[in-house]
Amino acid sequence: MTPIRIGLLGIGTVGGGTWDVLTRNREEITRRVGRPLVITRVADLNTELATSVTGGQADVTNDAYSVTRDPDVDIVIELIGGYGIARDLVLDAIANGKHVVTANKALLATHGNEIFAAAQEQGVVVAYEAAVGGGIPIIKALREGLVANRIEWIAGIINGTTNFILSEMRDRGVDFQVALDDAQARGYAEADPTFDIEGIDAAHKITLMAAMAFGVPVSLDDCYVEGITKIEQTDIRYAERLGYRLKLMGLTRRRDEGIELRVHPCLVPGSRLIANVEGVMNAVLVEADAVGQTLYYGAGAGSQPTASAVIADLVDVARLITADPGHRVPHLGFQPDRMGDTPILPMDDVQSGYYLRLRLADRPGVLADVTRILADEEVSIDAALQQEPGEAEDQADFVVLTHITTERAVQSAIQRISQLESCEAPVVMLRVERLG
Ligand code: HSE
Repeated sequence: MTPIRIGLLGIGTVGGGTWDVLTRNREEITRRVGRPLVITRVADLNTELATSVTGGQADVTNDAYSVTRDPDVDIVIELIGGYGIARDLVLDAIANGKHVVTANKALLATHGNEIFAAAQEQGVVVAYEAAVGGGIPIIKALREGLVANRIEWIAGIINGTTNFILSEMRDRGVDFQVALDDAQARGYAEADPTFDIEGIDAAHKITLMAAMAFGVPVSLDDCYVEGITKIEQTDIRYAERLGYRLKLMGLTRRRDEGIELRVHPCLVPGSRLIANVEGVMNAVLVEADAVGQTLYYGAGAGSQPTASAVIADLVDVARLITADPGHRVPHLGFQPDRMGDTPILPMDDVQSGYYLRLRLADRPGVLADVTRILADEEVSIDAALQQEPGEAEDQADFVVLTHITTERAVQSAIQRISQLESCEAPVVMLRVERLG
């Protein structure tokens, strides 16, 4: 049995996990593939680390191009991250006729169209199961398992760091900064957590899933992105009282007019399974016309869970190596010449339920003013609660949940409410996704 020879670029957390799992499960994997998968070359700037992980069983170098250009390498795994050198290396590997496996969502969300086109041209595969949801086989589900369906929408908790922070805020009653410090102390959040807490990492992932679900090009620039840095304890508590949990969600939905593509915190009914996904875990809920709702849950990051997805891709590619390129699973699940051009909708046209927290003067007629504005904008109230003011207070919190309406109508209502003399603080707005 001729082995499949693999070049690994980057042997950090995920690369080390990939080495470990491939070594530990070598026999089982070989039984599944029919040929051994062997990492023969490893490129890492830290050659000492690479040598210690591989124990001298692979050729170690600090020159990644010597791997992407090595005629004896069949598949290149890119685990360097980012979109500078990683892009150059992936394109170089493709140009040299290598199949590529990558966990790099930032790279694919930013340069995916270019990379997939180059791979198509060269007749090689770029596989990226580990780029979304860590060890959860969601790419497999979207491109293959659900292929019979028209996918209607996807809602995902696809960033473990922010889910951990929101879980901590709810469970321990701590503020955002305390929960973030905790996430960093536990090694969940990076030293620079911007990509996670500002929703950018989740945007990379939902953008890729939207392209696969609807057969449209990858369009990160059209994704609306809002993180969790402004989330207050008060709103987590009011959400709970109304029966909702606050989650950072990646959402994409097909509508007649176009596709919604967005990442933001939102209230989800506490009775939904996905609302109960806590800590660093990830989950993706898919609504499709034939199967209905399916939910995929698991570890969204970490050395071995992500390695599980990387190796699944290696196996897929190994099985496909002898297949006619025209009969492989297309990169985005749709044939490249049959991609659609459905536009991504601007945020104003998005439809959602809304949570509004208003700080209002506690005197007669104030609520009437607010409800009149909502009625004028055709925003219908679904539920409301008013917090009794403290003894010495002359202001009260008024919280409204709306039925589904457009972002444009709600923003217009917020602007008008903010101008009321009785409105004592900026209006807090969060979106509500009932996921029915
Ligand atoms: N930083 C990500 C998370 C994992 O917290 O889920 C890698 O995408």
